[in-house]
Amino acid sequence: MWATRLSLAAAILLGGFVVGCGERAQRGGGAGADGREAIRVPAEARDAVLLEMRTMLGSLHDLLTASVPGDAVAMQAAAKRSGLGAAADTALEHLLPEKFLQLGVATHQQFDDLAAALGAGLPRDSVVVRLSRITGNCVACHAAYRLEAR
Ligand code: HEC
Repeated sequence: MWATRLSLAAAILLGGFVVGCGERAQRGGGAGADGREAIRVPAEARDAVLLEMRTMLGSLHDLLTASVPGDAVAMQAAAKRSGLGAAADTALEHLLPEKFLQLGVATHQQFDDLAAALGAGLPRDSVVVRLSRITGNCVACHAAYRLEAR
């Protein structure tokens, strides 16, 4: 009885896995299959951009965490980490579409502006407004593009 149930469960899991892999392979195969523009770059360039992305997510997390006790110094440091200084190597610029670059630079600039404003005593409400603008950029770009290693 248990053995039957177990093998049934295994069959369902395996089935789901195989279907899942098929879907992934399909998406990877056709550029823009999910409606987003696929930017094809060498693997190292993709990894550099993705590292930059994880830095920004880390900044957002640290900003939110430090905003709980209202630690402006820690918030400022977290914002600064994703400023223009953290932008991926300029050597990658020619590989990326103009609009992508503009949105990317604007996002880093907003982190720098936020860091400067925090240094000048920006109130918490305004921090939330600015964070919402920043995350609006994250959402907009993710809806428009995906990266593919070529
Ligand atoms: C200019 C475009 C752009 C902006 C702005 C942008 N991203 Fe991304 N991000 C991308 C693309 C493209 C990918 C790869 C998505 C894919 O291939 O499916 C990505 C991937 C990621 C990943 C996955 C990283 C990994 O290692 O796989 C994270 C996390 C991420 N972004 C966070 C953010 C956050 C947080 C923001 C805003 C603060 C942000 N991104 C703003 C374009 C952008």
